[in-house]
Amino acid sequence: MAWEAPHLLPLVLLVLLASGSWEQEPLLLQKLEGEEVSVRCDYPPQNSSKTKTWCRIIEGNTCTLLVNNPRLGEEPGNPRYIIRDYPGQGYFTVTMSALAEKDSGLYSCGLHESSRINVLRTISLAVSRGEFFPL
Ligand SMILES: *[C@@H]1O[C@H](CO)[C@@H](O)[C@H](O)[C@H]1NC(C)=O
Repeated sequence: MAWEAPHLLPLVLLVLLASGSWEQEPLLLQKLEGEEVSVRCDYPPQNSSKTKTWCRIIEGNTCTLLVNNPRLGEEPGNPRYIIRDYPGQGYFTVTMSALAEKDSGLYSCGLHESSRINVLRTISLAVSRGEFFPL
């Protein structure tokens, strides 16, 4: 019984690509350690009541949940990840602060649907220690 948690949603989400987003190349962002990164994610205005999600892609179609807005309770709750929603304008922003080299990787923003995410945008983040990026 201690091992069962049927009401907890999984931390790993299945990635579904919203129509149109499949063709999009990931947005490449380069940052230095300690900096923050902000990403804007547009969604259809009629979907404004859905939960906004930011997750880290761990394999082709799975993503580790980092933060939801509004909070659903299953996310770890790291204050480095912040979602600000502007439902009237049909977009939200995601901010990740205090970046470290190990944050480099692929991320997606999207709309949460039970244990799935409808991906709006995918970001390839490269965090560097130095003051310049080697070519
Ligand atoms: C928006 O909502 C419609 C209707 O529920 C759904 O078919 C569509 O996939 C949603 N789009 C996103 C990006 O979640």
